[in-house]
Amino acid sequence: MLQSPAPTPPEPPRWNGQPIVLVGLMGAGKSTVGRRLATRLGLPFVDADTEIEIAAGMAVAEIFERFGEAHFRDGERRVIARLMDGERRVIATGGGAFVDPETRAAILSNGFAIWLDAKPAVLVERVSRRDTRPLLRNRDPLAVLEELARVRNPFYATAHLRVSSHRAPHDATVNTILKALGKI
Ligand code: S3P
Repeated sequence: MLQSPAPTPPEPPRWNGQPIVLVGLMGAGKSTVGRRLATRLGLPFVDADTEIEIAAGMAVAEIFERFGEAHFRDGERRVIARLMDGERRVIATGGGAFVDPETRAAILSNGFAIWLDAKPAVLVERVSRRDTRPLLRNRDPLAVLEELARVRNPFYATAHLRVSSHRAPHDATVNTILKALGKI
């Protein structure tokens, strides 16, 4: 019997200079990795949460507290739409941004999305260093992150590139991304 040749695996999506958008759960290292990646690529870095805070004139936790999560998501959608104007840069997003259908569509069509994937047990160690995340306040961080991973990972999985950031130091993650982008 004639055997058909093994199918060639699909080419991974290529970076064509679109804005690079880091997505993934809280503690995955989006801001740190994003800043270092931007430096290595000689591009500007923008943190979407910081831009939201500047636009609102208050911290993310305060927006959640005073106006609720839906209001925060509205601001987040507007800010990310503005950042996706085509200028070459590296953007770190807050963990929930890519779950919003409109924000995700904007990122997937105008940017190059990279999922920094790490297990909740690893993320817990990292998020425990700061108490600024409203979704984790007064709650068991592992339980919250496990639930968020269950709900959100299928969305993150639609990113153009997935990079494991489990226990690797952030610089190793940056190098993995640069290799995938064909820059080293
Ligand atoms: C959120 C993550 C936070 C921030 C907000 C909500 C989330 O950003 O946007 O607290 O829904 O996962 P980081 O992922 O940078 O912590």
